[in-house]
Amino acid sequence: MEILTGSLYDYPKYYDLVFGSDCQSELEFLNGTFEKYAKRKVKKLFEPACGTGRLLIRLAQQEFQVSGLDLNPHAVDFCNQRLVKRGFPAGAFVGDMADFQLKKRVDAGFNLINSFRHLASDAQALSHLECMAASISKGGLYLLAMHLSPTKGDPIETESWSARRGNLAVNTHMWIINRDTKKRNEHIGITFDIYTPLRHFKINDTMDYRTYTAKQMEKLIARAPNWEIVGVHDFTYDIDEQIDIGPETEDVVYVLRKR
Ligand SMILES: C[S@@+](CC[C@H](N)C(=O)[O-])C[C@H]1O[C@@H](n2cnc3c(N)ncnc32)[C@H](O)[C@@H]1O
Repeated sequence: MEILTGSLYDYPKYYDLVFGSDCQSELEFLNGTFEKYAKRKVKKLFEPACGTGRLLIRLAQQEFQVSGLDLNPHAVDFCNQRLVKRGFPAGAFVGDMADFQLKKRVDAGFNLINSFRHLASDAQALSHLECMAASISKGGLYLLAMHLSPTKGDPIETESWSARRGNLAVNTHMWIINRDTKKRNEHIGITFDIYTPLRHFKINDTMDYRTYTAKQMEKLIARAPNWEIVGVHDFTYDIDEQIDIGPETEDVVYVLRKR
């Protein structure tokens, strides 16, 4: 079988099929948080680590002004091409979310599905929170959705899911190769099995995520004085349901507001 080399982020078409097929709950939640928690009207949005822009394009179609940044130029091209194709400005640019500056402030930012955990150290994570604080106007929001490392019970070790569009189907499997909570690193394996009518090929990749217990995350946010936690939800994305973080909690959405 043919194996494609490189990171799965280098293949935006397949990434977007897998992660972009089910955005509705995230979009409704984003809109709900802007209404509920922001102390300003939210019109301009920025997504650090925007990837293919699966959310940005849909938010642009809801008449938000959108922009984003990502390290991966393939993802940024894909994102801009689709924004432009639908008549919106090419708002994505290549950059590092630990070190960037926007020309103009925006009203809200969001960083979902663990992208924040790609930052490998507290110094990078803090620098990111500072860059975000400089990018967002007072009373605006930053939504941070991620998996915490539970301190009680067994964490989820594997996930598998499938997506299909027309003749293209992708089966995805993700598993933890090694979790070292002392070194604060989770090494993850991920495979995409891609099927077209005439081909079956595979992308094999690994990724590293920094681990955070709830306490480590709270301490980090406390060191970023421009942000206050104004809400905590989970990946059910229910705007009416806040959660209490306990030792078994894994998925969390922090709603941060700029002071
Ligand atoms: C899991 S994807 C999420 C993409 C998008 N936020 C979404 O919800 O579909 C993670 C993205 O983070 C990007 N990334 C990783 N480290 C980064 C960094 N330091 N700065 C900017 N982007 C980064 C990767 O290139 C990838 O596109």
